[in-house]
Amino acid sequence: MHYAEPFLRMVARLSLTALLFALAVACSQPPVRGQPAGAALEAPAGQAAASWREPHRPQFHFSPPAMWMNDPNGMVFFEGEYHLFYQYYPDDTVWGPMHWGHAVSTDLVHWQHLPIALYPDELGYIFSGSAVVDWNNSSGFGVGGRPPLVAIYTYHHPELAEAGGKNHEYQGIAYSNDRGRSWTKYAGNPVLPNPGGLQDFRDPKVFWHQDSQRWVMALSATDHVQFWASPDLKDWQFLSDFGRDWGAHGGVWECPDLVEMQVDGRDESRWVLILNLNPGGPQGGSGTQYFVGDFDGRDFTLDESFAQTLRAEGAVWLDAGRDNYAGVTWSDIPEADGRTLFIGWMGNWDYAQQVPTHPWRSAMTLPRELLLTRTGSAGYRLHSRPVAELRQLRGEAVTLDPRTVGPATEVTLAVDIPVAQSEWLLEFDLPDAVAYEFGIAFSNELGERYRFGYDGARNQFYSDRMDSGDFSFSENFPGVHRATRLSPDRKLSLHLFLDVASLEAFADGGANVLTDTFFPTRVYREAALYAEGAELRLLGGTVFALDGIWNGSGD
Ligand code: FRU
Repeated sequence: MHYAEPFLRMVARLSLTALLFALAVACSQPPVRGQPAGAALEAPAGQAAASWREPHRPQFHFSPPAMWMNDPNGMVFFEGEYHLFYQYYPDDTVWGPMHWGHAVSTDLVHWQHLPIALYPDELGYIFSGSAVVDWNNSSGFGVGGRPPLVAIYTYHHPELAEAGGKNHEYQGIAYSNDRGRSWTKYAGNPVLPNPGGLQDFRDPKVFWHQDSQRWVMALSATDHVQFWASPDLKDWQFLSDFGRDWGAHGGVWECPDLVEMQVDGRDESRWVLILNLNPGGPQGGSGTQYFVGDFDGRDFTLDESFAQTLRAEGAVWLDAGRDNYAGVTWSDIPEADGRTLFIGWMGNWDYAQQVPTHPWRSAMTLPRELLLTRTGSAGYRLHSRPVAELRQLRGEAVTLDPRTVGPATEVTLAVDIPVAQSEWLLEFDLPDAVAYEFGIAFSNELGERYRFGYDGARNQFYSDRMDSGDFSFSENFPGVHRATRLSPDRKLSLHLFLDVASLEAFADGGANVLTDTFFPTRVYREAALYAEGAELRLLGGTVFALDGIWNGSGD
């Protein structure tokens, strides 16, 4: 990724873009389930507006009405609303001068698009970052006794970047006193200048550290993470760094997140450091790794057993697919809820700017709950599960009776629902054979098909998009993505979400997760189980048609 774009051209466009976007949003209706979403957001002149029915448009994933989107930013829960900001370029369907787009949801499923929250200014483009509720008004930005929302983001100055002084990224803040509807940039920006010599110094993720009673920031710095602390979000002191010698280093460390998590089913908590890496991901290009350890308010130290896992495996990945990047967690989820909620960008820098979609590019993953588990065989691992709120999208259900498949046959599943927009819960009994594989194939009348399966000999899940549809846009796109199965159980469960152009697979309760996109020339209409090398026993399953989130119809 090169972040050099003519600055002046961008500034000249600002006012026109602001006007167009404000007009478009003013005309739009909040999407209400079971009711048309209303006027599509208009796109700048010469560009098509969103109809939400364009080829490859996800129907139950978040996507912008038009134009380019990458990382999720500033996710925070406040007064009943989940905020989702995102890296946004409103003038084109490729990356450009970055803004923060904005949407809110009361249920993590249906989203209302709001006007752009942050525009680039003379300090630079607005890169990724986070947002917090400043409950104690430590910043002094609050009015009338109400806590302000404070966004902490990176400024990226394109001209300084081109000049090559490695001083072009620094941190700024902005605040809102009207539930995120309008934002004021702090006059004292930047609050954390570049110390000099750091090529990549970005993506601040901030949280309130209860024990030391101050704000802590995780910040990426090229090949490691830095931690900084502040009493008021304005004045930052360096604490420590982590990671030069740990994990994968095939690219730049970006978008970190440090979060304390209860270990599932145990009276124990650990700190998890999520870290995005591009390139150098598990399947090439972008990927998300994580580390488990402790944080004492100053230093992050790896748990010894996790360090051993890292020595053995090199890196531990949050998702084995190619299309889950830059994900971090929501801030200020109420204690009564207690979940660690995550969302990622369903893209990969290897080809995201070339995928065949118009007039928008990219979607987010489904929102997920992260669980920290600890088992004798796998040690500490993050599991991911789709949030329970998604169940409200379930429409017609088809029950799959127990059956045997194969070997060397395919069983077409006569599910009378549109498979292109569906959820699958399947349970299998693994055969005793050594060399076998099985899976599910989604296909269309042109013979294009995507397969998700399990290879018994290698003990690996795989996602095969070799023949999935159009990949003329990038030679980097086709491929088979594999991940070693972590669960030792004889029973294998799959929870799959197919949404037109993506599959998210949560296997064995979220122990293995794989997210991949694909671009079939026509929508997939058929699903089939296949097995090779041994007979496969499907113990049972359910398939749901899922409603769309933009217009309430599921077909
Ligand atoms: C990750 C990233 C961030 C940066 C942003 C720029 O995808 O490169 O590091 O802040 O995108 O859009």
